[in-house]
Amino acid sequence: MNKEIAEKLLSAKKVVFVTGAGISQESGIPTFRGKDGLWRNYDAMKLATIDAFYDNPKLVWEWYNERRQNIFSSKPNPGHKAIAELENFLNVVVLTQNIDGLHQKAGSSKVLELHGSIVKIKCTVCDFKDEIFTEFTEFPPLCNCGNILRPDVVWFGEGLPQNVWQEAIIHANNCDVMIIAGTSLVVSPANTLPIYAKQNNAILIEVNPDETIMSSDMDFSLRSTSATALPELVSIFKK
Ligand code: APR
Repeated sequence: MNKEIAEKLLSAKKVVFVTGAGISQESGIPTFRGKDGLWRNYDAMKLATIDAFYDNPKLVWEWYNERRQNIFSSKPNPGHKAIAELENFLNVVVLTQNIDGLHQKAGSSKVLELHGSIVKIKCTVCDFKDEIFTEFTEFPPLCNCGNILRPDVVWFGEGLPQNVWQEAIIHANNCDVMIIAGTSLVVSPANTLPIYAKQNNAILIEVNPDETIMSSDMDFSLRSTSATALPELVSIFKK
């Protein structure tokens, strides 16, 4: 493990993780833009936009149900577990773009889901919201008010809930190390979080087997999978 990274982590007052689909790849959940990524096999614009939903709610719900089945059968991997274990040594906050809930399942206690959650649903009309941990059998599911329910996730073209985004910026502005793991950093506004952190003199550490469009902005890049690199970061505290 790089000595400089170890020193930065050992003296860190607050570490913020920004994670994406790559951190769940080793739990068997496909990424979006990788070679076997979801957007390689499905048209994102036909499944992950509000227009697509109203155009064909049944198709979108069937796709989300398929993702629910995969996610509900997935388990946290050593990468998720390492982030949770770091809480024993550091003040850790996780800002995740993932909707799979695996950070929470691994034991992370401070997780902000920027793009919502696969278990959360909400009515398209009234203010009904709920969390459903089973698969759906009728598509699209209906609210008691008679209107259709939708996944409570952020689709392309939708903004993040204002309170969620404001909280994310506060964390990004107030950390001394930001670890960006498993994300291509192509989707905004999540991809601006490293810029906020850097503007506040945080050290940026990227964990990704591949280069990203922001690799040149990073102070350190660990060209490795998260399930390999993140447990190594935790081992620094166990010497
Ligand atoms: N460990 C770490 N990183 C990995 C691994 C792994 N095992 N496998 C793949 N990666 C990296 C890829 O190199 C890529 O840079 O994870 C990244 C995954 O990028 P994307 O598939 O674009 O996923 P993400 O960045 O989370 O997408 C952001 O886009 O489709 C929307 O809302 C969706 O939240 C998602 C957002």
